[in-house]
Amino acid sequence: MNKIGILTSGGDAPGMNAAIRSIVKSGINSHIKVIGIENGFEGLIDGQFIELNSSSIKNIIQRGGTILKSARSKRFLEKSYRKKAMDHLFNNEINGLIVLGGNGTFKGASIFTKEFDFPIIGIPCTIDNDLYGTDFSIGYDTAINTAVDAIDKIRDTAESHNRLFFIEVMGRDSGMIALTSGIAGGAEEIMIPETFFNIKQLVGKLKDLKNRDNSSIIVVVAEGDEEGGAFKISEQVKKDLPDFDIRTTTLGHIQRGGKPTCMDRVLACQLGSAAVEALLEGKRNLMVGVVNQKIKLTDFSLSIVRKRKINSELLKFL
Ligand code: F6P
Repeated sequence: MNKIGILTSGGDAPGMNAAIRSIVKSGINSHIKVIGIENGFEGLIDGQFIELNSSSIKNIIQRGGTILKSARSKRFLEKSYRKKAMDHLFNNEINGLIVLGGNGTFKGASIFTKEFDFPIIGIPCTIDNDLYGTDFSIGYDTAINTAVDAIDKIRDTAESHNRLFFIEVMGRDSGMIALTSGIAGGAEEIMIPETFFNIKQLVGKLKDLKNRDNSSIIVVVAEGDEEGGAFKISEQVKKDLPDFDIRTTTLGHIQRGGKPTCMDRVLACQLGSAAVEALLEGKRNLMVGVVNQKIKLTDFSLSIVRKRKINSELLKFL
């Protein structure tokens, strides 16, 4: 293997740039060329290739987003476009690929690697931290710290006005961000898709809290909660608790941006280097992760089908 490609796909995650840097550095050390593919699988289909070298990765370790840009590619779901992508790799003499992303990215990579017998290694990058096969995904630590900072700020104003706030955090299918940022932000309740807590139970708890003289109350809601997002839940609660002064905030994409934390940068360095090593050892169809502080390789088929479990024990700290 003397030339590898690298792309970032799906929702961006802070630390992707640090991982790109780590891959390029490892490539240079192992005397292999690293080609950046822009716009994820879309750029692979269209042959948007750029050579990455030591000057391309200067001063990117601290930058959020991805210098390679990202996309969610619908075209890559079609075989004819995957064939086009393979032709570009062949014509550019690229003999291995590293893909940075989440579940959707690995699904695409898994189909491609089997279809064309092409070596691909995945690096888990998603603020949702919902991938099986790694304790942490790149971007998660930054996102939860952003969310906690926002919850703390909202607490100040909630306390001043004796208000109940619903705060929605990201996590389409996962309550990881809500659970950890909610615990760290001292939330009075957390609503996540992994546990069932209905509106009636919530209203009962909110009444109890008010009776116990809680001046401010914060409920952190994962966007994927089965009762709906924060706005839907707050509208229902308003009907049952007309005397409560209620406000609702969605944190949204601020959770995806910003400087990666120290933890995310170090994780990105480890996983970028491990991915290059895995390709050079002839491995394929695997995601690199960190489990109990050790590098672990997990087959794409498992990381796609299984889901990382939340630690619901944490809910007892509410
Ligand atoms: O997968 C990461 C994530 O941030 C989810 O938490 C969220 O639901 C989704 O991406 C939002 O995606 P988009 O930026 O495409 O709207």
